[in-house]
Amino acid sequence: MTTNITPIVKWAGGKTQLLEKMTSLLPTEEFTAYCEPFLGGGAMLFCIQPGVAYINDINSGLMNVYNAIKYYPEALIAELSGYENTAEFYSKIREFDRDFERFAALSAVQQAAKFIYLNKTCFNGLYRENKQGQFNVAYGKYKNPNFVNASGIRSMSQYFNAANIIFTSVDFSLVLNNLPTGTFVYLDPPYNPISETSNFTSYTRYGFTQEDHMRLRKCCDALTARGIKFMLSNSNTDFIRSLYAGYDITEVLAKRFINCNGNGRGAVKELIIRNYT
Ligand SMILES: C[S@@+](CC[C@H](N)C(=O)[O-])C[C@H]1O[C@@H](n2cnc3c(N)ncnc32)[C@H](O)[C@@H]1O
Repeated sequence: MTTNITPIVKWAGGKTQLLEKMTSLLPTEEFTAYCEPFLGGGAMLFCIQPGVAYINDINSGLMNVYNAIKYYPEALIAELSGYENTAEFYSKIREFDRDFERFAALSAVQQAAKFIYLNKTCFNGLYRENKQGQFNVAYGKYKNPNFVNASGIRSMSQYFNAANIIFTSVDFSLVLNNLPTGTFVYLDPPYNPISETSNFTSYTRYGFTQEDHMRLRKCCDALTARGIKFMLSNSNTDFIRSLYAGYDITEVLAKRFINCNGNGRGAVKELIIRNYT
C-alpha cells in the first residue's frame, strides 16, 4: 500500500504536472529496481514508490535533505518549527552559505533544515548557485510558505525506511555504469536550452553542457546494449532530436516559464525518449 507523497522541495523542471502522461509511458513489464540519477524534487520516484531504488543528484545539499528525512524526521521537523518567515531571518540563514566553515560545522539536520527553508521561502522557490557555489536567490515574501511540512516529511521518511534505497551524490555516469539488469531508469537531466536566455541549468555551479548531454547519450546506448530500459525527458530542440535519433520519441505539452524575465508562462512541447515501446 503506497501513501500519497509529494516533493518536499520546489525544483525547476519538476515533473508533477506530467506524471499522468509519463506513468502511461512506463514499461508494462515489472522491473526489479528503479534508478533516478537526476532526482531533483523526485516527483516520479514518489509517484511510483519502488521497493528497490538507486537515487542520486549531484547536488549534495539536496541529497543531505533526503538523508535527514530518512534518519532524523522528528529532529528535522523540530528544527524547522523554530524558523521564522521574515526577511531578517531569511538573510541570517542565507548568510550561513557564504561562510563555508560555519556551514560545514552544522549538523546534517541543521544543514537540511536550512536547505528546505531557503527553498520554500526564496523568490520563486528555486535552488540556484552562482559561480562560487553560493545560493543566490532573494527573499520571496510569501504569506504562508509551508517550510515545516511535518506530515510530508513523516510520510517520505516512512517510505525511505520501508524501501531498500541507495542514496548517492555523484555524476550520473557513475550511477548508470553500475546498474544491475532488470533495473528501469528514469532520466531527467537539466534541459538543453531552447534559446540562449530562456532556460535554467544553474542547479549547480557546474551547469550542464552539450558535452554532458553527449556523455549521457553514450550512457543510454550502453544501457540499451545491456537490455536495461530507460525513459528520458528533455526539451524539444534539434540537438536533442538528432542526439536521440533512432530512439522512440513522444511529444508532450508542459506549462513552463517561456522567457527569461519569468512573466511568460505557456505550454511548450517537451520530449519523452525511450529505448522501448
Ligand atoms: C531537471 S532537474 C530534475 C527535476 C526532477 N525530476 C523533478 O521532478 O523535480 C535535474 C537535476 O540534475 C542534477 N544534476 C545536474 N548535473 C548533474 C550530474 N552531472 N549528475 C547528476 N545530477 C546532476 C541537478 O542538481 C538537478 O537536480
